[in-house]
Amino acid sequence: MPETLAPPDPGALRACMSRFVTGVTVVTYEGDDGPRGATINSFTSVSAEPPLVLVSVARWARCHDQLLDRPFCVNVLGREQEPLARQFAGTPDAAAPRWAPGSGVPRLDNPLAWAECVPWRSYDGGDHTLVLGQVIALGHRDGDALTYAWSRFGSAVESADGVEHLI
Ligand SMILES: Cc1cc2nc3c(=O)[nH]c(=O)nc-3n(C[C@H](O)[C@H](O)[C@H](O)COP(=O)(O)O)c2cc1C
Repeated sequence: MPETLAPPDPGALRACMSRFVTGVTVVTYEGDDGPRGATINSFTSVSAEPPLVLVSVARWARCHDQLLDRPFCVNVLGREQEPLARQFAGTPDAAAPRWAPGSGVPRLDNPLAWAECVPWRSYDGGDHTLVLGQVIALGHRDGDALTYAWSRFGSAVESADGVEHLI
């Protein structure tokens, strides 16, 4: 039985959901005035055929409209890249982002993993929009992952052999 049948207040909902441990991504794209990005932890892999991933984007975010109509890159952050997560969540001067040279769609330099996407479909998600992207290129490296839970950054240790794949 649920603890309550009344709609949860936003604070209780946040506290409940904060127990779900996630990775941390920065979704990058070409803005009107150059490369831009937004920190997003509501990211999940959805489908293998076609290869689809999902991000949930606040309607009021500056990136919202852009992610619906242009290619973007989901950059999964490594443990040492917490300053980038803060920077792209709106903390000024947390980190000076470096961009991967020669990538068509703006991509961070040296993320733990990345997936370049073209917008596929989008769905109403209340005060967010669920944006599905079709993955057209990807890669990864070895290293520990940045995590987010209890409204705090943390890390998950992983060290697999890294082989970059392009599709
Ligand atoms: C750890 C973390 C995870 C976040 N995840 C999301 C998310 O999944 N969706 C979202 O819309 N905003 C998320 N945010 C908030 C955005 O990063 C923040 O609103 C940012 O300023 C949006 O940038 P923009 O307005 O330039 O697009 C997250 C922030 C943090 C610190």
